[in-house]
Amino acid sequence: MPDEGSSLSPTGSSSSRGTPGAPTTGPSGALAARHQLDRGRIPGHVAIIMDGNGRWANQRGLSRNAGHTAGEQALFDTVEGALELGITDLTVYAFSTENWRRPPSEVRFLLGFNESLLLRRKDELHDRKVRVRFIGRRGRPVPKRLVGLIETTEGLTRDNRRLTLRIAFNYGAQAELADAAARAAADQAAGRLRTIDEGALAARLYDPEMPAVDLLVRTSGEQRVSNFLLWQAAYAELAFVDTLWPDFDRETLARCVALYQGRDRRFGGAVDTPRTVGGGTPEAAHDRPGSA
Ligand code: FPP
Repeated sequence: MPDEGSSLSPTGSSSSRGTPGAPTTGPSGALAARHQLDRGRIPGHVAIIMDGNGRWANQRGLSRNAGHTAGEQALFDTVEGALELGITDLTVYAFSTENWRRPPSEVRFLLGFNESLLLRRKDELHDRKVRVRFIGRRGRPVPKRLVGLIETTEGLTRDNRRLTLRIAFNYGAQAELADAAARAAADQAAGRLRTIDEGALAARLYDPEMPAVDLLVRTSGEQRVSNFLLWQAAYAELAFVDTLWPDFDRETLARCVALYQGRDRRFGGAVDTPRTVGGGTPEAAHDRPGSA
């Protein structure tokens, strides 16, 4: 068994490493048992739209920025839950290409917050064998210092394989697809690519190694995808939960996985599911809503 390191701390301060927070016990741990999860059907890739920080803070008479600060603990408890459940890929939406429209004070805060989060947490994530990757546009107006820190964190953690944590920063799915299309067109013009098809575009996304999303969660009761992973989540199961992001934790994550395990994934291939009706004669089930 490889060294899985100490549990992630709620604050990321170096003095608290390995102290607070329930330790994880690996993919066969108590979290899955508590939620009666089928360990053979854990979603490989979970993506989360971390929404509701502002509302959480305003309900307490605090500023929206205080809500973002409170969201850090939720994020790291969720990472811990992903490690415990054996989820291999976790992608979180931290800042969209549209979020530059937020009030300048909030934008400034979020830039500094993401930088400080990386500074305080990167070694801890590395100890936990988490590979960190960023998806999004890295040019202006993202500050050079933040891009430098992003690249340092990616370099530090590049060989880790226990969990890949992707942070979508200055990310928009429409921008990602436009960038991929532009690269494909340039490669075609240069004679490096014959046909622009699904495979050609998939190979030119921000992280071509990213697997398809199995489960897409949005917190705070909003039911939309807000320009997140439109390509990769083409067949994702969607879970919209009322929990505001700062209140989300590994238990909420496990409940989302339980929802996922109750779903019937068909990927376009509907089949009759014979069932037993009064007395035991198998017959074709009626089509359910959504089966074509
Ligand atoms: C999309 O909703 C949601 C996001 C892009 C997530 C934003 C999250 C944060 C700013 C907090 C990050 C927290 C941590 C702990 C790193 P939207 O509001 O951009 O879109 P909408 O207008 O459709 O609701």
